[in-house]
Amino acid sequence: MPEGRLGRSLRRMTHRIAVIGGDGIGPEVTAEALKVVRAAGVDIDTAEFDLGGARYLRDGEILSDSTLDELRAFDAILLGAVGDPRVAPGVIERGLLLKMRFELDLYVNQRPFVGTAPGHDTPHEFVVIRENTEGPYVGEGGVLRRGTPAEVATQGSVNTWMGVERCVRHAFELAATRERRQVTLVHKTNVLTFAGDLWERAFNSVASEFTDIDTAYNHVDAACIYFVQDPHRYDVVVTDNLFGDILTDLGGAVSGGIGLASSANLNPARTGPSMFEPVHGSAPDIAGTGTANPTAAILSAALMLDFLGEGAAADRIRTACNDAPGGGTSAIGDAISARVSA
Ligand code: IPM
Ligand code: MN
Repeated sequence: MPEGRLGRSLRRMTHRIAVIGGDGIGPEVTAEALKVVRAAGVDIDTAEFDLGGARYLRDGEILSDSTLDELRAFDAILLGAVGDPRVAPGVIERGLLLKMRFELDLYVNQRPFVGTAPGHDTPHEFVVIRENTEGPYVGEGGVLRRGTPAEVATQGSVNTWMGVERCVRHAFELAATRERRQVTLVHKTNVLTFAGDLWERAFNSVASEFTDIDTAYNHVDAACIYFVQDPHRYDVVVTDNLFGDILTDLGGAVSGGIGLASSANLNPARTGPSMFEPVHGSAPDIAGTGTANPTAAILSAALMLDFLGEGAAADRIRTACNDAPGGGTSAIGDAISARVSA
């Protein structure tokens, strides 16, 4: 087949997207993200999955193994937000969000940050690569004598060489495609001496294969200061699951607010679909008011398009989100759609 025809047929490929709107503002912002993707001219075939706190309260389903198997057949999953104040903390987070991250082996949580931090004049641009399947998130530990004065609770952090190495490798591979070619490891090696030592050796081992990439190390407490006072120093940051969770909220706060923060839960080995979601939560207090900002969901959809080989459309969406007009949820979605289809 002549190359030109192959190129055209690839561009016309239909991507099969599983959509989990979820709870609160999740369905509203996801609808705007899909509107923008379609306006950008990308062919998608969507299937809605009714999952989240509301579904759980209705019939007890959180994420069954058979639903998980259905999700495996898609090219990508677009998630709005999950979490319902009527459901005890941890039930939906563990049963739905973390179950997808673990079972679909979404071992990289990639979160880009672009913005001008308070007190700065020029924008920063960096990416946090958060390990997404290990650390304190695995649920290792337990409780003894619960509810008594002698109660004991432990919560371990699991770090495997394989899990850390593949995450760090992704960070270096990403840095190799970027102008500044720099990776910073963030950990707490002065206190978490077992896990920190494994992370440091895995980082140094991968770094030795990427001799043209600059490296740096920050303790996580110092990184919190630099995120605020000197965010320009970062290009690619790689860190463990819990440090990454906390640092990326801070990253959002110094980059225009959590309402703009997008994320990609990636299975870089492509043994199944990757999952894309805004960093923000379900914001039940404003659900249904039409005031939620859909930009983080739209930017998450752009990350999905990057991963599906639709980088040109993703770039157009990101440009259209710059200085997006204010207004309500659908007004913002309409304005961004108009810009990408222009
Ligand atoms: C995030 C969220 C989740 C996390 C919660 C909802 C389990 O805060 O994606 O950052 O801690 O990973
Ligand atoms: Mn978080």
